[in-house]
Amino acid sequence: MKLLSKNEDETKDIGRKLGEKLKRGDVVCLYGELGSGKTTMVKGLASVFGIDERDITSASFTIIAEYDEDVPFYHIDLYRVTSEDVPELGLQEYFGGGGISVIEWAERAEGEIPETSIKVSLNYTDDNIREIEITGIEL
Ligand SMILES: Nc1ncnc2c1ncn2[C@@H]1O[C@H](COP(=O)(O)OP(=O)(O)O)[C@@H](O)[C@H]1O
Ligand SMILES: [Mg+2]
Repeated sequence: MKLLSKNEDETKDIGRKLGEKLKRGDVVCLYGELGSGKTTMVKGLASVFGIDERDITSASFTIIAEYDEDVPFYHIDLYRVTSEDVPELGLQEYFGGGGISVIEWAERAEGEIPETSIKVSLNYTDDNIREIEITGIEL
């Protein structure tokens, strides 16, 4: 499914709609260059699970941010991680539990990602326009 977003709020809204379809154990992989809107989308998605969007931030030192809500929520941002270092993160423990995992720069964890994961690609077209392609789930 391909969607167009015209601004930050529309991307958050797509995140919310996706979040409403998720169930425990789901893994969402986000692909797209820096500034394509991955973190923005996570803000909307996380809000469905009771997380304040201001608590969702870009990776500085935190690679894995855990939110202990009714449904545990894991925001995994591999921006500062190389593919070689991914095995040390123990991602399988997050994927195997009853929570929701959302991964930015998911291509860096390619070998570890479950086949059943939901994939979201964000692409720039114009200044504020983002093309968002979602596979593995219908909104
Ligand atoms: N349609 C849009 N969707 C999402 N972000 C947008 C959009 N238009 C402009 N932006 C801007 O692009 C940037 C996206 O940043 P961010 O979500 O942190 O991206 P990423 O996590 O992919 O690096 C923000 O500064 C945001 O304001
Ligand atoms: Mg980001």
